[in-house]
Amino acid sequence: MFASEIVSVGMFVPPRIVTNDELSKYMETSDEWISQRSGIKERRWVAPEVGCSDLALEASKLAIANANIDPQEIDLILCATLSPDHDFPGLGCFLQAKLGLSGCATLDIRQACSGFVFGLSIADQYIKTGMYKTILLVGAEIHSKGLNVTTQGRDIAVLFGDGAGAIVIKQTTDKNPSRILSTHLHSDGIHAKELWMAAPGSNIGADRINAQHLEEKMHYPQMNGKKVFAHAIRRMAEVMQEALVKNNMKLEEIDLFLFHQANLRINEMLAQELKIPPEKVFNTIMKYGNTTAATIPIGMAEAVKAGKLKKGMTVASAAFGSGFSWASAIYRW
Ligand SMILES: CC(C)(COP(=O)(O)OP(=O)(O)OC[C@H]1O[C@@H](n2cnc3c(N)ncnc32)[C@H](O)[C@@H]1OP(=O)(O)O)[C@@H](O)C(=O)NCCC(=O)NCCS
Repeated sequence: MFASEIVSVGMFVPPRIVTNDELSKYMETSDEWISQRSGIKERRWVAPEVGCSDLALEASKLAIANANIDPQEIDLILCATLSPDHDFPGLGCFLQAKLGLSGCATLDIRQACSGFVFGLSIADQYIKTGMYKTILLVGAEIHSKGLNVTTQGRDIAVLFGDGAGAIVIKQTTDKNPSRILSTHLHSDGIHAKELWMAAPGSNIGADRINAQHLEEKMHYPQMNGKKVFAHAIRRMAEVMQEALVKNNMKLEEIDLFLFHQANLRINEMLAQELKIPPEKVFNTIMKYGNTTAATIPIGMAEAVKAGKLKKGMTVASAAFGSGFSWASAIYRW
């Protein structure tokens, strides 16, 4: 039986560090409020001339080099993002061109913060059926250009940052201990407007975007923070349990938990609820904020660098985000 092995990871964040103190120059907020409510100390912002495909390219080049493959081997480029270079075509097309590739398939995933785990699942299905042998999966985001960086938008603006992470996934067999063991995906569209951005859109009148939409700030994300917070803990706990049951595993058999990074308090409460020792949870939110689809591959890369993620370890990831959508995966590194 075919199976999928994660053979490498790469990450890239823009060099500009934006601290909580810097944000307090643009809006009424403070390092104390942001740190206490979210755990975030700083995040990265790109320069104006940088696009999402530029971040994706840097992370992808590292993942490809670390995989020691010829880029021509790539059968599919999967890109998870909610901040693509342009409305269409997808980020994958622009990344493909920048990688100097042509002909292989590209596919964008729009599941926001759960996008990378959805991507892991899509990659795993294509590999298991034998359709593809080598897949580049990227999570990349530029949030800084789409936030309302004033007091009006402060509840959201302080949480998000820019960055990218990429992995190369190759076909192996189920005899290989290093493989994706399972993935679990869910959505509940009834909550679509609890965390969303209305414009540009085809359901907001005669234009996809016009001056009135801009005036009404419909081009900025809107969030019901408390509802997202409560659902995130509940759904990530559920989907983590689902993964353990599917693999007939106990929580103690997981060596490392790489959760989505939306709020440090969410991950602390999740760990408490599942009774996971804090040292088994790897967090990066303090340095990068919420980088949406990029958070889990950034976590993988940082955990490898810190010596916390090593060959042979069993890893569990769970994510929750806009949609609402939530997902988990268990994989052996
Ligand atoms: C956004 C979040 C940090 C807010 O924390 P909270 O404890 O729910 O805070 P509240 O919304 O009750 O706001 C408390 C007060 O702080 C204010 N506030 C909001 N953002 C602020 C900021 N950046 N700085 C200072 N004050 C702020 C609010 O206006 C409110 O003031 P009021 O009491 O005078 O009305 C929290 O709800 C959260 O993390 N939610 C989940 C977000 C998330 O995960 N999003 C991505 C999903 S993948």
